[in-house]
Amino acid sequence: MTRICIIGISGKLGQYMTEHALARGYEVVGVCRPESVAKLDRFKGRITLFPGRTDDASVVAQAVRGCDGVLTVLAPWGFTNYASGTARAVLENAEPGARLIFSCGWHISKDGQDRYGLKLRLIFGFFTFLGWATRMADISDQLRATDMIFASDRLWTVVRGSDLEEGGSEGLPVWARHVGDPVLASNRTRRTDFALFMVHALTDDRLIGEAPAIVSHASASARAHPGAAQSVPG
Ligand SMILES: NC(=O)c1ccc[n+]([C@@H]2O[C@H](COP(=O)([O-])OP(=O)(O)OC[C@H]3O[C@@H](n4cnc5c(N)ncnc54)[C@H](OP(=O)(O)O)[C@@H]3O)[C@@H](O)[C@H]2O)c1
Repeated sequence: MTRICIIGISGKLGQYMTEHALARGYEVVGVCRPESVAKLDRFKGRITLFPGRTDDASVVAQAVRGCDGVLTVLAPWGFTNYASGTARAVLENAEPGARLIFSCGWHISKDGQDRYGLKLRLIFGFFTFLGWATRMADISDQLRATDMIFASDRLWTVVRGSDLEEGGSEGLPVWARHVGDPVLASNRTRRTDFALFMVHALTDDRLIGEAPAIVSHASASARAHPGAAQSVPG
């Protein structure tokens, strides 16, 4: 892995991924909305930016050229198929053989085998309704995006984040194939560690074709189930 692209590089997750990728010595290019370029001033001279919407296939095509890996923040903003347009732009334009890592939340299910408790179902339902009522977020489009990824023959990984919190790193998160696994019960991960897992996934071939649901390595549930946690070496 030498050159990687971060699609949605100016957001919180994108900036953490940039830090981790630079720390690994990767050459980093990224796509973000033109109005967000200034958010990345602290990386000036160390990254190359392609300003544009992340669902703009022509911008994405330029950015991913020559990249061995692509980290994509899937965000369901508005009702213009932003998440699925972003996923399609990456799937159709990334280099053959590139590792493609996408972010989303626990609400995404690859195989329908996830078990959601009442509290999680109420929270997902509330945010789906809120996004629809305000026209700010179309959660069903994030589902369409991930269905498209799951059906693709690319070398993909869909990383499903728990509730996120700020703060210093607690180490590489552990993961499980299905929500409902007791190891995930704490439902918390530092945002910087979500980013760490995304960057790590670029070089962990055991994660190809997986949709790992992650939780902090230091959380009570991860510590209580050390055998059940499917961690990946750092
Ligand atoms: N927030 C959580 O608690 C949580 C929990 C689990 C999983 N996740 C997942 O984590 C990932 C990152 O989420 P995050 O909440 O941490 O946010 P984030 O990293 O700040 O990313 C938000 C992204 O959306 C873009 N964006 C914001 N408003 C937009 C708009 N109106 N139109 C187009 N793009 C817009 C941002 O770009 P700009 O910089 O241009 O604004 C940024 O790239 C997502 O895949 C999410 O599903 C989040």
